[in-house]
Amino acid sequence: MSLRPGVRAVLAAMVLAITTSACDDQVKYVPWFATMTSQPSVETYEAEPMAPVAGTVPAGFERNLDLLAADTLLTNPLAGTPEEVERGRVLFLQFCVVCHGDEGKGDGPVVGPNRLPPLPTLNLLSERAVDLSDGYIYGMIGNGRGVMPSYRRVPAEDRWYLVKYVRKLQEQASAAE
Ligand code: HEC
Repeated sequence: MSLRPGVRAVLAAMVLAITTSACDDQVKYVPWFATMTSQPSVETYEAEPMAPVAGTVPAGFERNLDLLAADTLLTNPLAGTPEEVERGRVLFLQFCVVCHGDEGKGDGPVVGPNRLPPLPTLNLLSERAVDLSDGYIYGMIGNGRGVMPSYRRVPAEDRWYLVKYVRKLQEQASAAE
């Protein structure tokens, strides 16, 4: 019997539909297909998620030390070249000058009556401040203390430039005495 190609195609489609419907359910009863439904693969969420190796930190991680730890553990990695001091000056104008003043005397524009009280510790040129370690000043920037907010948004490496600039201001002040 010869059928026209169109009719043959329709018949083929019907046969295919009948033989493959509910295929998903039945295929597992066919022995050589069972290997697909039960295979030694790991099911979703079956394994414990991988935890980071103990004692490691993510790349770019910045550890913030508190004041005491910064004071005792950290030393300034910068030599204090004129370029480094200049970078510190730019950062100081950006972040510190409002309170500490452009010379670091603690007389910034926000200090005064009905504003920030003129605390003696605002003066970065005091004997006390000169005696602070580089690590302590670094820690002050990262943590703040009392009325001074944390300047953690200043990237850790930039804080060292600020420390160099504070030292520079202190040197200038003592030279002028
Ligand atoms: C919003 C005002 C403000 C800004 C901005 C500010 N400080 Fe301070 N800072 C203070 C105050 C107030 C104190 C005194 C806090 C206290 O005595 O507890 C202080 C204290 C300090 C001290 C400690 C002095 C000491 O004798 O212990 C250092 C060092 C210091 N600031 C550095 C900086 C640096 C560097 C910046 C810029 C990143 C900065 N501060 C920005 C308000 C500010």
